[in-house]
Amino acid sequence: MPGSDIVAPNVVLGLMRIQEKSDDEVRELVRTARDVGIDFLDHAAIYGAEYHGCEQRFAEAMQLTPSEREQLTIQTKCGIIREDPYFDHSYEEIVGSVEASLEALGTDYIDILLLHRPDALVEPDEVARAFDELHASGKVRNFGVSNHTPGQIELLKASLQQPLIANQMQLSVTYAPMIAQGLTNNMESKTESASLDNGILDYCRLHDITVQAWSPFQAKHFDGPFLGNPRYPELNATIESLAAKYEVPVEAIAVAWITRHPAHMQVVIGTTTPARVEACAAGSQIPLTRKEWYQMYRDAGYHVP
Ligand SMILES: NC(=O)c1ccc[n+]([C@@H]2O[C@H](COP(=O)([O-])OP(=O)(O)OC[C@H]3O[C@@H](n4cnc5c(N)ncnc54)[C@H](OP(=O)(O)O)[C@@H]3O)[C@@H](O)[C@H]2O)c1
Repeated sequence: MPGSDIVAPNVVLGLMRIQEKSDDEVRELVRTARDVGIDFLDHAAIYGAEYHGCEQRFAEAMQLTPSEREQLTIQTKCGIIREDPYFDHSYEEIVGSVEASLEALGTDYIDILLLHRPDALVEPDEVARAFDELHASGKVRNFGVSNHTPGQIELLKASLQQPLIANQMQLSVTYAPMIAQGLTNNMESKTESASLDNGILDYCRLHDITVQAWSPFQAKHFDGPFLGNPRYPELNATIESLAAKYEVPVEAIAVAWITRHPAHMQVVIGTTTPARVEACAAGSQIPLTRKEWYQMYRDAGYHVP
């Protein structure tokens, strides 16, 4: 990944949904991912029934030896307070959350720490103090953000010593405001011309920040997948015909729509089904043509003016 020495796959396994999975299920999920080249795992303090619940479920199931741990890239996030709720990028919360993540994960370092959602009350110098300390102690090797705008990233960068190497944002073919805005720019008749993120995709490309696409199968916000969804008949027909053409499962085509984009994004998949992990990995190198890519975009309901 630019800005780090991490060699990362473009499909990442998100572990937000493993809380109720057994040891065997977690092991099979991660083993399957490893077998298809996915050695990059995405966690967060907030995932699970309790704080750090999914991190702990992962560690208990995997019982990683130090050398097995070394072979993985483990990313986690901090800064969401579940009760009330609110966001907290204070020094105490960042450092405290990392300490708890290290304990839950049973490791002594985190490869990448992301600030999970922007905190309106952020004090960038305080974030910098936390990052400096975590970096100097070797507890966190790299830093990034999630759901941040260009302005919020610039504000942090003015205080930080370390580069921000990733920005995790929601993106699927049916939930693509970061792409749609630019294509219908200045067309007031199209609602998707409104900027929801202030041009985050171009900003990240210009600054070597890897966009990590979360919920790549969800139709909109946590409302179930678009694959096989009767709300998207044209899109599913197109995906099925492309799956036949490229001789891959339909999940691979959904992944390919994101990996085909020249921004070198990572796709953070959240399935807990090993066969679907394999199917997703099959999409990481499919060279969709421009015509195919735009067809999927139009079939998802977006306009090509
Ligand atoms: N930064 C953020 O704010 C943020 C927010 C949300 C998520 N995330 C990260 O992104 C990851 C992915 O999020 P997500 O789980 O919402 O994404 P997703 O991959 O779009 O959705 C996965 C869910 O869809 C289900 N599904 C049903 N049919 C499917 C199919 N054909 N292919 C794939 N999945 C299918 C899966 O069920 P099965 O498990 O039964 O297969 C699973 O419940 C999370 O694990 C987390 O790491 C980040």
